Amino acid sequence: MNQLAHLHQQVELGLQELQLPNKPDNLYESIKYIIDLGGKRLRPVMVLLGNDVFGGQLNKALPAALSIELFHNFSLMHDDIMDNADLRRGKPSVHVQWNLPTAILGGDALLVVAYQQLMKSSQEHVVELLNLFNVTALEVCEGQQMDMNFEVQNDVSVADYLEMIRLKTAVLMGASFKMGAIIANASNFDADLMYQFGQDLGVAFQLKDDFLDCFGNPSFGKVIGGDILENKKTLMYLHAQHKGSQNQQEELAELANVSDAKTKIHSTLKLFEATGAKAAAENKMNEYYKKALANLNNLHLSDVHKETLGKFAESIWQRQK
Ligand code: IPE
Ligand code: IPE
Ligand code: MG
Ligand code: MG
Ligand code: MG
Repeated sequence: MNQLAHLHQQVELGLQELQLPNKPDNLYESIKYIIDLGGKRLRPVMVLLGNDVFGGQLNKALPAALSIELFHNFSLMHDDIMDNADLRRGKPSVHVQWNLPTAILGGDALLVVAYQQLMKSSQEHVVELLNLFNVTALEVCEGQQMDMNFEVQNDVSVADYLEMIRLKTAVLMGASFKMGAIIANASNFDADLMYQFGQDLGVAFQLKDDFLDCFGNPSFGKVIGGDILENKKTLMYLHAQHKGSQNQQEELAELANVSDAKTKIHSTLKLFEATGAKAAAENKMNEYYKKALANLNNLHLSDVHKETLGKFAESIWQRQK
């Protein structure tokens, strides 16, 4: 088994061994449900990998890794309510499988369980980890609020969009790598570089998420075109809005009022291709992917470890789901 597969397996085992209360059934079943739906477990693997490359012991980093995955699942439960998204990891979202109150409370409880896990970290690191966790969690909320605000805003810039995805998605990846590095007692310099690596990779990751939401296949596990239906201001949308011809810009503006889902998705996708928005998103994604890799050069790590981090980044860059 290669190293990444091993770390992934440790995360799965750790999640299975979580002792959750039982009653009320639906509250805890909703939590078990979303966790058991799987997912790529990228963020907890980032914690373990960030720890491993600096020579840390896996068992010391596991509580933080689990805590990050629990936090991520909490954010997904609430995100699906906000985004009216009925499909998560190829199955009905929690608010569809149960109902809105259960998805709200299940998310709340998951956040608390995430804190309980983080508190299991060693005395030596727990305060620093908690501080990073808190700052990051607030930033995720800020990014999510910006994402919602942008749905009804027509003057969003590319810089606004990049800042929004940095906050809602990328900081959690930065924090994941940094937590691992902290637990392994890496230097502040290296821990901060790991944060930067994760953050740049996270921006590339969200650009790809937006891309797959439009051009992915069903294995993506979410409704294709979901972002278009919600009037999300993705980079593709902003490119079409600002760089399209006069006609294309008018067509895009009119599509905001189209209620037939199929027509809206189909016509918007055609505009994303015709205006070069699709290609622009791919270029931006590659730009951030390269930016992420450049951070690796300055880390005080052996080439073998840098290669491991590079390979992990490549698997994220190539992802189809
Ligand atoms: C989904 O993240 C939420 C985003 C930030 C786009 P992932 O694509 O990592 O979700 P899972 O955990 O693998 O399902
Ligand atoms: C989600 O962004 C970011 C967070 C959950 C914090 P998206 O809304 O694009 O994620 P998906 O596509 O629903 O997974
Ligand atoms: Mg969503
Ligand atoms: Mg969202
Ligand atoms: Mg998405």
